[in-house]
Amino acid sequence: MKLLVILLLIMLVVSCNQQENREQLLQKRLDSLVTNTYKPGFGEFMGNIQIHHAKLWFAGENQNWKLADFEMNEIKENLEGIQKYCSDRIETKSLGMINLAMDSLSLSILKKNKEMFQRNYANLTNSCNTCHQATSHEYNVIVIPKNPPFSNQDFQIKK
Ligand code: HEC
Repeated sequence: MKLLVILLLIMLVVSCNQQENREQLLQKRLDSLVTNTYKPGFGEFMGNIQIHHAKLWFAGENQNWKLADFEMNEIKENLEGIQKYCSDRIETKSLGMINLAMDSLSLSILKKNKEMFQRNYANLTNSCNTCHQATSHEYNVIVIPKNPPFSNQDFQIKK
């Protein structure tokens, strides 16, 4: 009887240890998944924003307001991506300085007002540069584009 109790106790201890080992292994795998999973960087989001900023100008110039609204949303999504994935970067704290310019530009698209769009687009571009200056990236200078960024996209409204 005594022997049986001892044997049972040993079995219990062994199985507890195994359980612990399995948990540790699982945790290790989880940790490595989190650290090795691809996360887009600040510069990648900015590269995307650059593309949509450029397309936005030609959408507005062509009074293609649906496309302009779409491009605005793409910029917004990338700004949200920075908030979500680059919260460890000090520069992310300055991101809010673009919000007012974004809202004013959205309003001019909603109003389908080309002059207002041009003015607020210039304001947005200024706020890109203001943030670049504030975050010691003043050498990244953004301007109003002269040519459409892609030749395979038509910015005019389909008739
Ligand atoms: C937080 C303030 C902030 C705002 C607002 C901001 N940027 Fe940036 N931008 C940065 C920082 C920081 C970098 C450098 C990113 C890095 O470390 O790679 C950068 C880099 C860039 C680059 C260089 C990326 C490359 O691949 O060459 C471009 C282009 C750019 N931004 C465009 C824009 C445009 C267009 C806007 C406005 C619509 C804008 N940015 C608004 C902070 C900002």
